[in-house]
Amino acid sequence: MDIKGSVALVTGANRGLGRHLAEQLVQRGATTVYAGARDHSSVDLPGVVPVRLDITDLDQVAAAARIAGDATIVINNAGVLTHADFITGDPADIRRELDVHFYGALWMTRAFAPVLEANGGGAILNVLSGLSWVHLPGFGAYSAGKAAEWALTNVTRQELAPRRITVTGLHVGYMDTDMIADIDSPKANPALIAAVALDGLEQGAWEVIADETTRQIKSALSAPSDELYASLSG
Ligand SMILES: NC(=O)c1ccc[n+]([C@@H]2O[C@H](COP(=O)([O-])OP(=O)(O)OC[C@H]3O[C@@H](n4cnc5c(N)ncnc54)[C@H](OP(=O)(O)O)[C@@H]3O)[C@@H](O)[C@H]2O)c1
Repeated sequence: MDIKGSVALVTGANRGLGRHLAEQLVQRGATTVYAGARDHSSVDLPGVVPVRLDITDLDQVAAAARIAGDATIVINNAGVLTHADFITGDPADIRRELDVHFYGALWMTRAFAPVLEANGGGAILNVLSGLSWVHLPGFGAYSAGKAAEWALTNVTRQELAPRRITVTGLHVGYMDTDMIADIDSPKANPALIAAVALDGLEQGAWEVIADETTRQIKSALSAPSDELYASLSG
């Protein structure tokens, strides 16, 4: 899938990783880049088309699919981290994380599959996480959302292949964005992660593992659960 000459839409493109993805799509020669944002007036990137898009709002998703009816690439990037505790956290926060990560990506995929197909096929990139695979207190709802989105990624890849649509999952660890500004830990540069993600999309990769931490997490999954979680908490 060539980015040069493509028409792309990125969700959550007003800041963080999404802003880098939109900017680099322009730099790589996409003809049009639709920058989805809940508040589309907050999109400050030159050369993109801002689109009002809350991915949990089915009407806005349908409207975006009409506006971006020439799309050949969709990047499900929008995300939220509330740190809601499963046992004591606000149920609205837990529901919101599932709404954004799983249902939001699902509604986007359903709305844009006919668009991509009508445009001759295309590509979807879902932004996942190392936390799709390991699940820690304080990140429960986030992980549940990302694990569900990982399942969505794997199933839609198979469902959409006959329609000439590839589906790539990007797994990444901590990145230096607003989302984890309060976490004191080494963080990857989101501009570099965006570049790796777009390389993977262009290659039609099923899975892009963007950093060493995430690679280690994946290889550790074959260990017994008690050993894996003991090593993570130790
Ligand atoms: N940062 C990390 O360490 C990390 C690690 C692994 C994966 N990720 C994933 O990377 C992706 C980008 O996150 P980020 O780090 O760039 O975080 P960020 O800087 O907090 O940006 C999150 C983006 O998602 C948007 N968003 C939130 N809810 C939305 C909704 N309902 N509809 C549409 N847009 C919505 C936000 O829009 P508003 O400005 O309107 O809030 C913002 O543009 C997310 O999927 C995240 O889970 C992040």
